[in-house]
Amino acid sequence: MGLLPLAMAPPAEAFNADTPMPHHSSVSGASPIVPQTHVGQRVLVTAAASGIGLATATAFLQAGARVFICDLDPVALDAALRDQPGLGAMVCDVSDEEQVAALFKAATGQLQGLDILVNNAGVAGPTALVEDMDFSDWRRCLAVNLDASFLCARAAAPLLRAQGSGSIVNLASTAGLFGFPRRAPYAASKWAIRGFTRTLAQELGPFGVRVNCVCPGSVSGERIERVIRAEAASTGQSEADVRSQMTAYVSLKTFVSPQDVAHTILFLSSAAGARISGQDITVDGHTETF
Ligand SMILES: NC(=O)c1ccc[n+]([C@@H]2O[C@H](COP(=O)([O-])OP(=O)(O)OC[C@H]3O[C@@H](n4cnc5c(N)ncnc54)[C@H](O)[C@@H]3O)[C@@H](O)[C@H]2O)c1
Repeated sequence: MGLLPLAMAPPAEAFNADTPMPHHSSVSGASPIVPQTHVGQRVLVTAAASGIGLATATAFLQAGARVFICDLDPVALDAALRDQPGLGAMVCDVSDEEQVAALFKAATGQLQGLDILVNNAGVAGPTALVEDMDFSDWRRCLAVNLDASFLCARAAAPLLRAQGSGSIVNLASTAGLFGFPRRAPYAASKWAIRGFTRTLAQELGPFGVRVNCVCPGSVSGERIERVIRAEAASTGQSEADVRSQMTAYVSLKTFVSPQDVAHTILFLSSAAGARISGQDITVDGHTETF
């Protein structure tokens, strides 16, 4: 993705789908060198106290950006700030209109503007057949996965349009490319994010603002472990069976890492991605079917 200097890339034959891809680390063990692709860029990443969001915020910091994050969970946010003291941060539920207004006031005040918005917030939602699902669970999933991206994009759009530059990256999922039995609100919200992305790209493109979305596959970490436990409980399968099914139809036979997703977000929002807009890019090892 252009972020790993050629001199540090492993030889092609060293790649194995079971081995995590290298991220800014030298095969010789020397200090990592991170290309300064985002010097001075002002970045807001939502729901970034953990997971993909924190990996993305960290990657932006390492690439020279100034980064503000928010999260619903104050304890996780404190831990993230101890890990990355360079971050600005605020507790915020991004599905709430008033809290998003306060977030943008704080973030754009501290950053003195905005160049990049990463709409990362998303929850797995309920695991159940549509006929067994509570309306409140459906609505909560749509509120975080779709409404929050609308609220944040609506706040960012006039700022980016006025300065004639900037980039928005939305987080969708491979669940937004296929049907997903027992995860209807999640799949519906992620399909919607793709339509929202293309529409926003058309609205903001004439003003030099780019909008893309990233569709991660199953990302290693605490969240996917929760999903595996819920799927096993819902279907009566063992967790091991659920886990192996999740990579059975992935060409590279692996989960992806939060850093894999972060690097794609950085690429899309960098000068290297200057002519890329309205796209959904999968980072999933190639999901053949769901
Ligand atoms: N992890 C995966 O396997 C995977 C796969 C495909 C897509 N995604 C998408 O990537 C994005 C990030 O996923 P993740 O796995 O890193 O998430 P996660 O479950 O690790 O959660 C990240 C953070 O979101 C915060 N959060 C939840 N609701 C919030 C809200 N309303 N307001 C503010 N913060 C909130 C949580 O407190 C948490 O710290 C999501 O949009 C998700 O749907 C994830």
